[in-house]
Amino acid sequence: MDKRAWHPAENPTACHVAIIMDGNGRWAAERGLPRTEGHRQGVEAVRRTVEAARELGITHLTLFSFSSENWSRPRQEINDLFGLLRRFIRRDLADLHNNNIRIRVIGTRAGIERDLLRLIDDAVELTKNNTGLNLTIAFNYGARDEIARAARKLAEDVQSGAVAATDVTPEGFAAYLDTADLPDPDLLIRTSGEQRLSNFLLWQLAYSEFVFVDVYWPDFSREVFEAAIAEYQRRSRRFGGTSVRSTA
Ligand code: IPE
Ligand code: IPE
Ligand code: MG
Repeated sequence: MDKRAWHPAENPTACHVAIIMDGNGRWAAERGLPRTEGHRQGVEAVRRTVEAARELGITHLTLFSFSSENWSRPRQEINDLFGLLRRFIRRDLADLHNNNIRIRVIGTRAGIERDLLRLIDDAVELTKNNTGLNLTIAFNYGARDEIARAARKLAEDVQSGAVAATDVTPEGFAAYLDTADLPDPDLLIRTSGEQRLSNFLLWQLAYSEFVFVDVYWPDFSREVFEAAIAEYQRRSRRFGGTSVRSTA
């Protein structure tokens, strides 16, 4: 795909793609394999997608890897998922860093083992000055929890007098979210055919375009990615106004 096509003149900031990576378990079940195998193949899809995002000139890629609701899964599956994240960081961090990728993690640290937190912190620290693709992993993330945590911090600042209640604005509130230094997603992709947000980026997706694709995450390919982007490019983003073309 032509890189320039991703930056149409009327929409120069079309650069942040967020993905709900769904369907690992069903991918495995269809093949008579354990769910873990689906998650393992899902990591391969993550590698392909990061690579494709870089090549397509996307500036921000945000991936939903573990939700605050995923704690309701069997302990063994949770351990497998955490193990895969550990291995991904250990194996891929040097490569990501060499490719100038900046890693961020959003979500809460509550309930996560200390060694995994340390791996995450090291990855964020190592890559913090990188200027290429901004890769954000939503890990142990739930949007309602994020918004409640932001509200709590803001309330503390109002209580201490640092912020006046009358000064609370949408922009000011967004600065308390985990995504404070990130632009809102332009495009949300969810794989597996499900059409719901599952508590992902509720605030930030207010004006994003949604594309639901019918493949399970382990089958997510560059072709499917490009087709989703092409679908995005056919949309007319109006942000409550009239279409850019009709006003020209
Ligand atoms: C996505 O695949 C991975 C995570 C949510 C961690 P699922 O594990 O949700 O797979 P399905 O939806 O059960 O097929
Ligand atoms: C959303 O997928 C969470 C992640 C992709 C990490 P789920 O599979 O957990 O969502 P539901 O339960 O189908 O809504
Ligand atoms: Mg699922």
